[in-house]
Amino acid sequence: MVSKKMVITAALPYANGSIHIGHLVEYIQADIFVRFQKMNRRDCRYFCADDTHGAPIMIRAKKEGVKPEDIIERYHKEHQEDFSDFLIEFDNYHSTNSEENRILAEEIYTKLRESNHIDRREIDQTFCEKDNMFLPDRFIKGTCPKCGAEDQYGDVCESCGTHYDPTDLKDPKCAICQTPPIRKKSIHLFFQVGHFQDTLDKFMESGALQNEVKNFLTTWLKEGLKDWDISRDGPYFGFQIPDEVNKYFYVWLDAPIGYISSTQNWAKRTNADFEELWRNGDTEIHHFIGKDIVYFHTLFWIPMLKAAGFKMPNKIHVHGFLTVNGEKMSKTKGTFINARTYLDYLDPEYLRYYYASKLKNSVGDLDLSFQDFANRVNAEMVNKIANLGSRTISMFNKNKALNNSLGFSGNKEMVKFCQQFIDESDNISKNYANCDFGLAVKKVCHLADIANAFIDQHKPWELKNNLDSQRAVLTAGIHAFRLITLYLKPVIPLFAAKVEQILKIEPLMWGDSIDSIDKLLAMEGHKIGEFQRLAERVDIKTTEKVIQKTMENTKTDQQLNS
Ligand code: 2FM
Ligand code: ZN
Repeated sequence: MVSKKMVITAALPYANGSIHIGHLVEYIQADIFVRFQKMNRRDCRYFCADDTHGAPIMIRAKKEGVKPEDIIERYHKEHQEDFSDFLIEFDNYHSTNSEENRILAEEIYTKLRESNHIDRREIDQTFCEKDNMFLPDRFIKGTCPKCGAEDQYGDVCESCGTHYDPTDLKDPKCAICQTPPIRKKSIHLFFQVGHFQDTLDKFMESGALQNEVKNFLTTWLKEGLKDWDISRDGPYFGFQIPDEVNKYFYVWLDAPIGYISSTQNWAKRTNADFEELWRNGDTEIHHFIGKDIVYFHTLFWIPMLKAAGFKMPNKIHVHGFLTVNGEKMSKTKGTFINARTYLDYLDPEYLRYYYASKLKNSVGDLDLSFQDFANRVNAEMVNKIANLGSRTISMFNKNKALNNSLGFSGNKEMVKFCQQFIDESDNISKNYANCDFGLAVKKVCHLADIANAFIDQHKPWELKNNLDSQRAVLTAGIHAFRLITLYLKPVIPLFAAKVEQILKIEPLMWGDSIDSIDKLLAMEGHKIGEFQRLAERVDIKTTEKVIQKTMENTKTDQQLNS
């Protein structure tokens, strides 16, 4: 049976800010999933893009005296460098401010309009006469109507958590120029999402959502589907709405379309069949997103896809937020760590390993505690896993009489020992396929414990004069290490590449060497290369430097912005 093609997406990062360790949870999670699929020879593609439109980028550009496109370009480069250095490998990284995205957004909107799902009506909006623009909620500040906290945004009070309309704020001011705004009427376009109740009911039962996410959706559906305002008046940085004057698509309309336009851009580049992937083929589509944007990806995105004749996602994998040392990431505490600051001090594979060890198929939050991070990387990745490779391969290299040549020398006990490593393949595979990476890592660590104990028990260092036995014990240990490396390759691909080089083997693929003992025996006489160091211990002091540096950067930013 030919397996279905897969399209994997991760949420598009905003084009006006740097990637931080919170974002990385998702990009690493999806990357591990994609690497696992590719190791199984699935035709699987990972797409992403920068989310470029909206008021914040426009206002920032104005403040800096540059064009929004300049900011977009700067971050486009920075984001791609950060992703690449974290070994996050997209098949295509595009931009929502692209021709493909404009055409698709217009096409989708036109279909919504032609099938009578768009309503036009006049609404009351907050307007700044000085800046001559309608103000988005985040650009109105005032006193919370509930608790009286000052300097709160127009949508929610950060002090007491109350949600309100910007018109409820006491003493409202424009966040750009501090002038009190006025009320002004304007025509807006609304997508009548309520027409898609059946589609959403069906989607909910399709198996695409985790149970917790189904519960969110059930609550929202019970509350009733409200029309969604998809237009913004100019000045706005975005795509003009066809047949309207001075109206633009709200950024959240064209952002998810970026998933499709990035695919289309890739298809053009590689001569692939775009229609097959998103419209008429039997493709599997998976979105990875955080729990804060489930609302957009269910209530709005699903009806948009349906109305415009695109395929529904097969899975929406939702993850929770990152906390650091048990708390929300904080600029003042130095835990709002940028990808680049981390990379300046620490190995990206440590973070990939740490996140993998904590990720499960749930929307629960994930905590990064630096003490735990250092302990885990040192105890597991370095002391258990890398050390297994180091002790077996170095000893093998050292005894020249072994000639670096693997062999069980007919020792059945050693061959049998390897069977348990092969047997875990299916279980670990299921864990990856189900995004339960923490379980996969746990199983791998358990296997490393078994292998290390086995080496301790057979003391190959005492077998120098019994060449066959020494070769057989070390060969078993090296095969165990090779299989462990294979199982961790989606998580730590550079580590795996080094092992492949040391062992002089082809790139490790799922299924190739793990489906039978015969494949192990086929490597009798295979000559391995010389050991090289695989992983260094993390010093907790280095993580403290990362926090220190983040605090310094925050101070510099504040000075520059004041
Ligand atoms: O929440 C965010 O960071 C958005 N930029 C995510 C967009 S995801 C997709 F819909 F484009
Ligand atoms: Zn103003």
